[in-house]
Amino acid sequence: MTTAHDPAAPADPASGTLTYPFHDWTQQLSPHYARLRESGPPVCPVVSEYTGDRLWLVTRYATAVQVLEDPRLSSAAAMAPGSPRHEPVELRAPGTRGNGVALLNEAGMRAVLADGLGPRAVRRHQEWIRERADTLMHELLTRRDTFDLAREFALPLARGTASRTLLGPLDADEEEQLIRWADVSLRFCGATAEHMVAGLTDIHRYFLAHARRLADAPGKHLLKTIANTATHTGRLSDEELAEVAELFLVAGYPTSSGFLCGALITLLNHPEAVAALNRDPALIPSAVEELLRHTPLSTGAARRRATEDVQVDGTTIKAGDVVLISMEAVNHDPEAFEDPDAFILGRQGPAHFGFGRGLHFCPGNRLARCLIEAMVRAVAGHPGLRLAVAPEDIRWHEGLFFRRPEAIPASW
Ligand code: HEM
Repeated sequence: MTTAHDPAAPADPASGTLTYPFHDWTQQLSPHYARLRESGPPVCPVVSEYTGDRLWLVTRYATAVQVLEDPRLSSAAAMAPGSPRHEPVELRAPGTRGNGVALLNEAGMRAVLADGLGPRAVRRHQEWIRERADTLMHELLTRRDTFDLAREFALPLARGTASRTLLGPLDADEEEQLIRWADVSLRFCGATAEHMVAGLTDIHRYFLAHARRLADAPGKHLLKTIANTATHTGRLSDEELAEVAELFLVAGYPTSSGFLCGALITLLNHPEAVAALNRDPALIPSAVEELLRHTPLSTGAARRRATEDVQVDGTTIKAGDVVLISMEAVNHDPEAFEDPDAFILGRQGPAHFGFGRGLHFCPGNRLARCLIEAMVRAVAGHPGLRLAVAPEDIRWHEGLFFRRPEAIPASW
């Protein structure tokens, strides 16, 4: 596959330390991860390319477990204003808190979030999501020419699911607009800092004007659940509801849409696995888990900030320091996963880090799994589906936080 990054170490000229991120915008993980995992210290110093902040990077499974399970390494502190960071701008519209998770936690609504994304809630949407995947795939069946599986399958499936389950009835223009703003903001490069902040501001203004309407609209979406529960527990202000909607957009859409695209490419790259899934649909849940382990999504890393001095595998992380954890590197650690770059249906081994670990384990994991399962079922039911280009010729958007191809050319 193509690599958009320079395999030579991007080093900070002042210190000789690697700069981060590694610019691996395609599905090919940067070789720096493997090199650091094999021969670097368990917690490696890196420098943010964009802010010059000095950070620590974790690439090993065992170290990541330790970091993500230590409450002294705090996600909220890492997201607070002024914290060292690896992205060019702070991810908040000016004047907002920019941490919908902390807002829900403090409003005593963490359980409502967990419940609203829990098994019962997801079961309510499962049939619709499967039918939507089948319908989109069916519409492609008559095509004799090449089509774009991203634009015609993965993206509308992810978009429709986000509308129906998270945000409420957005029309197509609203969906497109929100996604455009998210694409401008949630990236390392390819837009100016002013444009990134403007995108975050536009998203915030949009939800300030529309979150209450969306929450009140018919449907069983999460924003409605949160708004209704808050009415009983003490109403969230319009400002707070807007921040919650922003959280659902930012955490729920670019992740799901990018991941569906990446997972489609992984699957179509393994026709023997698709044939096996076609013969034996009971393998589908294990395919979903292996996709979550194998297919890289984030081009950056999760972060935690030390609230006091913490020892991690022999390194002192000083109070105020930020540790980055690359879930992608951890998911390809050969100490944890035998032959980690191979895609193996029915793989045995420890839990993957596709949804993180510990206190901040992705609360949307059930919904995301349901969506990925619907995609895998649709592909497994149509083993004639093929990539129309070599995987290395797929072009990827450069600089996005969450990898996404420009298109997935496919045919029958
Ligand atoms: C394939 C799709 C998805 C993937 C791969 C994914 C992955 C992740 C990961 C790795 C984390 C942990 C971040 C950390 O430790 O700092 C996370 C957190 C989170 N995810 Fe997801 N996610 C997906 C979809 C969703 C969806 C659909 C939602 C729905 C709203 C969602 C909501 C969240 C939230 C709110 C958090 C923050 C939790 C916290 O800080 O306590 N995610 N996700």
